[in-house]
This record gives sequence, C-alpha cells and structure tokens, in this order.
Amino acid sequence: MVAKILDGKKLANKILKNLKKEIELLGAKPKLVIIQIGKNEASEVYIKRKINASKKIGIICEVLNFEQSVSQSLLEEKIQQLNSDSTVNGIIIQLPVPEHLDILKLQAMIDPKKDVDGFGPINLGNMFLGRNLLLPATPAGVLKLLEEYKLELEGKIALVIGRSNIVGKPLSILLLQKNATVILAHSKTKDLDKLCKLADFVFVAVGKPNFLSGSKIKKGAVVIDIGINKIKVGNAEKIVGDVDFQSAFRVAYYISPVPGGVGPLTVASLLENTLLAYKIQKGLISR
Ligand code: GUN
Repeated sequence: MVAKILDGKKLANKILKNLKKEIELLGAKPKLVIIQIGKNEASEVYIKRKINASKKIGIICEVLNFEQSVSQSLLEEKIQQLNSDSTVNGIIIQLPVPEHLDILKLQAMIDPKKDVDGFGPINLGNMFLGRNLLLPATPAGVLKLLEEYKLELEGKIALVIGRSNIVGKPLSILLLQKNATVILAHSKTKDLDKLCKLADFVFVAVGKPNFLSGSKIKKGAVVIDIGINKIKVGNAEKIVGDVDFQSAFRVAYYISPVPGGVGPLTVASLLENTLLAYKIQKGLISR
C-alpha cells in the first residue's frame, strides 16, 4: 500500500481563484500590511509568497521593514497608526521577532478586526469558545485540506506534535471542535512512540527534518506534515518537512507532502482572512 497525496497546492490555487473572483466583484482592493523586523531567511521566503499570492488576486500587500534593534515603543506606535488607518484591512507581524520585543503585547495591540493572523487574544479567545472568525492561517489551512479530501475527524484519535501558539495549540482546539479525541504532544511528552501507534491522524509541527518516520505510524493513518525545514543535499539546498516522506508514504493512508502540502494553504488562508477582515470592517459581515 502507498499513501494518497493531499495536494495542498491544488486546493490553495482553487481558494485563491475564488478569492480573486470575489475581490473583482467587490470593486475594491483589500490591503494587508506585513511588519517585518530584522532579516530572517525563512521569513523572507514566506513574505515573498504572501506578496506574490496577494498580487495574483488583487490584494494590496505592503511590507514595513524595521531594523533588528527596533524598539518596542516604536512598533507599538506603528501598530496604533495602522489600526486607525482605514485603508489598512489586515496587519500581521512576521515571526520570529528579536528576543528583546514583547511579541504577545504587540499582537494584542492589533485591532482584532485587522488581526488576520488570528494570533491576538480576542480572536484566539473566540476560537477557544467555538466562535470562529479570524482563525490562525496554518491550522485553518490544515482543516481545509482534511475537508477537501472528506477525511472525517469525529471520534478519531488526533495526535498533534508541537505546542506552538501559532500551530499546535490552535490546531488542537480546532480538531476538538471537529469532535476528534485530541492528544497534544510536545518535547516533554513521554512515550511518544506509543501515542503515534494509537493515532488515526498525526499532525507534526516541530521544525525537525525526519522527526517522524513510517515505522512509528499506525498503518492507515493520515499524516499531516506542518514542518518546513531547509536542508543541505550535497551542495544544493532542499525544503523538507518534519516527516520522513519516503517511509511514511508506505504506511499512511493519506499524507501531505512538503513542499506542496500545508504551506500553500497557510498563504491562501491568510488572504482569505484579509478579505474577511475587509468585509467585517465595511459592515458586510457582523461579528
Ligand atoms: N512565521 C511562520 N509562520 C507564520 C505565520 O503563520 N504568521 C506569521 N506572522 N509569521 C509566521
């Protein structure tokens, strides 16, 4: 048996095409502002993808660059300014940010109606209570992928490995909403191998190449790889996920590849949120 592929790129293109149509009908261009602090190789790549996808569908995407040493107060001032700028519909702070900054405070300052990453306490709190609106893009993208392939979560054991604020924690809540039995594992979890063998769905977001191999997975499980790692192969560089694809491919029922799995859906979900934020701000949707 070999696994079926969950084609995130194809689904993302379908979502982007629909967004483009909707934005054309709107007759106005929503605007997303990305706050970039310092230089980070991965962030550069992610931001480029966000810019390119925005351009394709008619979203204005502006990047504000700040020095690595930028002060907390200057960023707070900037966020306040963007909050009160009615031409700005979405604001995100590209992560990671330098250690001297209080990122949670900055995220909390973003107007919840413009918080298109869904990382602020109001949007996360609403999600926690089952009132979904602006959801974190990667977990939302994962759910879209499962829905597209009609993979039913109800009553299933869903193992999430990695408890970050932007992926693992919110994903576990969304899976719970779908009536999965959720196990949230992390670096201190004991007997992870045992848990893997129980899981009908495994979601891996730890940022380590080859973290999960096929031998650890229950036969017929659905494997969702949320890692994006750059590795060296000879002189060349290659992007791989957290799953050893070759071995997992022979054991899983469905598997998401890297690249071409969850990554493109993160971008599509972010832009979907930007359009949603625009509609909320214009009173086209009530929240
Ligand atoms: N860095 C890695 N993933 C993300 C994301 O989804 N949003 C932001 N703002 N930064 C990230």
